[in-house]
Amino acid sequence: MTASLGCGNPTALAELRPGEVVLDLGSGGGIDVLLSARRVGPDGFAYGLDMTDEMLALARQNQRQAGVKNVEFLKGGIEAIPLPDHSVDVIISNCVINLSADKDRVFAEARRVLKPGGRFAVSDVVRRRDVRPELQRSIELWVGCVAGTLEERDYLARLEKAGCVQSSIEPTRVYEAKDAAQFLAEAGFDTEQIAHEVDGAFMSAFIRAETPPAVS
Ligand SMILES: C[S@@+](CC[C@H](N)C(=O)[O-])C[C@H]1O[C@@H](n2cnc3c(N)ncnc32)[C@H](O)[C@@H]1O
Repeated sequence: MTASLGCGNPTALAELRPGEVVLDLGSGGGIDVLLSARRVGPDGFAYGLDMTDEMLALARQNQRQAGVKNVEFLKGGIEAIPLPDHSVDVIISNCVINLSADKDRVFAEARRVLKPGGRFAVSDVVRRRDVRPELQRSIELWVGCVAGTLEERDYLARLEKAGCVQSSIEPTRVYEAKDAAQFLAEAGFDTEQIAHEVDGAFMSAFIRAETPPAVS
């Protein structure tokens, strides 16, 4: 099975329960979908959504090899999720939302498909402060998904604007200049001199939010 290209482990952090319906935004080779399907068990279901035929073919091949039945891989953009309103208990995603050019649309779609009291449990790269564009470009060569990152407070504000509640961000890995030393050196930067600008500016994080519970 081809390894994950993501930046975290959302299935481990999402606390999936038997019987739940899970949706992975940007499912790639499908590993998180297959792991989720096992966690939700035969009474649950896991959907993977990806826009590229190549990744969907790989994911379906991995599904056949794993022999997992309660899974479907859907083709489409995470900005227009091909599932009905209130049909999903948990949305997971691993290093994909930062790639979207229309994140507000993604959050609105996530809110639409989640059931009342549903959970958004996503790994993503998040910016903690701005860095000079020329430094950012070198860091992008190392962590590709740095390009479209949201600043952490902005991330939470957009989730709340989409109608989510209880949103929070938990760092899983904070990046330092020495981690990107080779790329920064190749671009002509002295890693020690610019460390204070780069250290801690980007992190992989686990982002949680919920949809409001049903009113009885
Ligand atoms: C960095 S890979 C991560 C794949 C997977 N989540 C993992 O952890 O291995 C990004 C994946 O997201 C998909 N993707 C990127 N932007 C997307 C979008 N706007 N809508 C749907 N899929 C998208 C790509 O096709 C690719 O499979």
